[in-house]
Amino acid sequence: MIGRSPKIVIRGLEKSFGAKAVLQGLDLDVLEGESLVVIGASGSGKSVLIKNIVGILAPDAGSIRYDGMEIASLAGNARDRINRGIGMLFQNGALFDSLPLWENVAFPLLSTRTMARSGARARSIELLREVGLGPETADRYPADISVGAQKRVGLARAIATAPEMLFFDEPTTGIDPIMGAVIDRLIVKCVRDLGATALTITHDMDSARRIGDRIAMIHDGKVVWIGNVEDIARSGNAVVDAFVRGAPAARGTGV
Ligand SMILES: Nc1ncnc2c1ncn2[C@@H]1O[C@H](COP(=O)(O)OP(=O)(O)O)[C@@H](O)[C@H]1O
Ligand SMILES: [Mg+2]
Repeated sequence: MIGRSPKIVIRGLEKSFGAKAVLQGLDLDVLEGESLVVIGASGSGKSVLIKNIVGILAPDAGSIRYDGMEIASLAGNARDRINRGIGMLFQNGALFDSLPLWENVAFPLLSTRTMARSGARARSIELLREVGLGPETADRYPADISVGAQKRVGLARAIATAPEMLFFDEPTTGIDPIMGAVIDRLIVKCVRDLGATALTITHDMDSARRIGDRIAMIHDGKVVWIGNVEDIARSGNAVVDAFVRGAPAARGTGV
């Protein structure tokens, strides 16, 4: 399942906001076909990491190679070309309140003009079904459905273009543990069905264990440990141990 070649190679990644150094020389490899979960305290820079990879933020220093190509400061058409192969589930779902669910799901299909509206609607209904939502939900609006259902819609949108690379930012935050487990299983299924590479960030250890082949821990702006899911209980790393056991010091005081 895990390919031998790296999909993403990050070296010496740095990102600060004013005086606040968030990423401080972060190194990370994401292997082709794997599901890698990045854990870390709230405010440790997990979302900033993903935003640097997908080009929402530009790094201050360091290298990000994607399929061997340097993308750290890529912009314009070249960036769009890379991002067309990427699907993303944002931390808060990030659905468009004014659009019905089917148009939310179809957004990446319509915005790249890869599909006509009627075809996109039919495809959206299929995608909604894949995440467990019936066709009657297609014309409803985000405000009319539960947060768990919103996550499903966000997932359907993330996979709409059958991307080779998926990013999930806190997919289970804000939903109850039972729904969280359902979403985790859906994520695992969608990633497997697509044969995609996935990078998920979470501060939820149960979720990390369900989703990941490997886990990497961010602390003080660096990856301080990376290994197979089954090895995390004996990481030999005090920060990881504290996080896994839920010690407040490792979890931080953020939201
Ligand atoms: N656009 C921004 N401007 C200023 N500070 C930011 C910005 N984005 C993130 N930060 C700060 O960077 C730190 C890491 O944020 P983030 O990556 O969102 O943490 P998390 O690990 O919880 O996802 C936080 O202290 C946050 O306040
Ligand atoms: Mg975050």
